[in-house]
Amino acid sequence: MKLNRPTSRIIDLRSDTVTRPTPGMRRAMARAEVDDDIIGHDPTTMRLEERSAELLGKEAALFVPSGTMGNQIAVKIHTKPGQQILCSETAHVANWEVCMCAALSGVQPRLVPSPLGYFTAEAARTCIPPDEHYYPRTGLICIENTMNTPGGRVFPQAEIAALARLGRRFHIPLHMDGARLFNAAVASGRSPSQIVRPVHSVCFCLSKGLGTPAGTILAGSRDFVREARRVRQMLGGGMRQTGILAAAGLYALDHHIDRLAEDHATARRFAEGLAEIPGMALDLEAVETNMVYFDPTGCGITTAAFVEAMARYGVRMLHETGPVLRAVTHLQVTRRDIDHVLDAARKVVRRKLRRRR
Ligand SMILES: Cc1ncc(COP(=O)(O)O)c(C=O)c1O
Repeated sequence: MKLNRPTSRIIDLRSDTVTRPTPGMRRAMARAEVDDDIIGHDPTTMRLEERSAELLGKEAALFVPSGTMGNQIAVKIHTKPGQQILCSETAHVANWEVCMCAALSGVQPRLVPSPLGYFTAEAARTCIPPDEHYYPRTGLICIENTMNTPGGRVFPQAEIAALARLGRRFHIPLHMDGARLFNAAVASGRSPSQIVRPVHSVCFCLSKGLGTPAGTILAGSRDFVREARRVRQMLGGGMRQTGILAAAGLYALDHHIDRLAEDHATARRFAEGLAEIPGMALDLEAVETNMVYFDPTGCGITTAAFVEAMARYGVRMLHETGPVLRAVTHLQVTRRDIDHVLDAARKVVRRKLRRRR
């Protein structure tokens, strides 16, 4: 493909999951001390788990292959078949985990109305039915932080505390899908342990903004993590020399947390530039972290055509369905890249308008 860009480098805004390990991370992986993690002897994985538990202020932590597995292990442990779990309408656990809540744990997600992206304790309360034999019991409340589909926004901390109080009142545990917990921490100025103090279990992904090739940490009480290790094994998620991946995780915790602020700044720069393009629709207030959701259709161009036209400038974006596109900034997107992307977006829209005249 011929690129209308000064360099042939692709600027990849499809997701923060497309990051590639940096040279420093690769060196750390190459040097990793390893052993068999299924029998619990991989020293680097053990170090990552201890370090993560400490960082989160939880008793223990477990390395699992993916965020999906981390969430589903938590759902399995906290619930009993036949129960419902409360989550938002857009929750990853209900929409993108291929109905695993039903398949693995026999529970049904109940989608709590979430007009602002997050749900309140008041809204959650209306979804907890009276304790009658003809109603389901509620096994878990699951919240996402940051919230992906609502724009990468931070779940308000006061609401997390209110949901924990509600959970205590009805004996319902609280799980946080913190795939992008560190984005929430950097954006809110709170420490990860402050954010997760009210929840019983939490997982965070190493493979998103933190930039490792794979891996998620699931944390909670010592008993919870002991059980999680067993469920991970059931799911085929036990692995052997995971120290190579854990070394990438340790490197990311050392080097890639504070820099998330740069991703947030580039996302904001992108959003502000896009907002100046006539017809481009987006909610600037929703841009709190590294994601920008926008709708180019008001510029007279479909999302599919916009993505295709941007690809000619070396910019990759994901097009699924509907009028909204998502662009995500990360480790391998610089401020200069964003200026190129904005320049390309302006050209694409201008060309489209010229053709319509
Ligand atoms: C909010 C959220 N939770 C969980 C996941 C699942 O993570 P994984 O892709 O590692 O299974 C994702 C993935 O994008 C996500 O955005």
